[in-house]
Amino acid sequence: MEDKHQGYYIIGFMGSGKSSVAALLDRDAIDLDREIEQKTGYTIMQIFDRFSASYFRWIEAQLLRSVCPNGRIIAVGGGCPFYYHNMEYMRRQAKTVYLRCNFDSLYDRIKDDKSRPLVRSLDRVSMQALFDRREALYMTADIIFDMPDDLAIAAQKLNKFVK
Ligand code: S3P
Repeated sequence: MEDKHQGYYIIGFMGSGKSSVAALLDRDAIDLDREIEQKTGYTIMQIFDRFSASYFRWIEAQLLRSVCPNGRIIAVGGGCPFYYHNMEYMRRQAKTVYLRCNFDSLYDRIKDDKSRPLVRSLDRVSMQALFDRREALYMTADIIFDMPDDLAIAAQKLNKFVK
């Protein structure tokens, strides 16, 4: 049984269902990308376009550090663990949960999503390469959760881990 007060960070590639499943869990949930949009008044796409990817990473790291888990679930964007030592930071603060999915299902879910800057700029081969590079760090999460296709089933199973 985990400490009820520590909280959990949900990590994983784009399309793994981090935000959707976090919202279905029996704990308060925060979505870091939505926090970024609320705090800046820009969508993620606008931040990439009007400012830059580096600026987005900087804000992401700042907001990550300003939102305390305190027993809550925090879903972070797919790239978050890879910048500003964010993975080490999250691992110190709370438990990390990796939602593991296979690349083909992820790609099918995200390929037509115009709200994700990386989908716009990377073709399938580059996206697969990014996924392959990222997986090693995702796999250092405290909990590796094999994500079922059905979100309700995923939430039911995950609730047992985050009790
Ligand atoms: C990103 C993932 C996105 C968002 C941004 C960058 C990434 O979040 O943070 O577009 O680098 O993988 P989701 O994983 O929720 O799509």
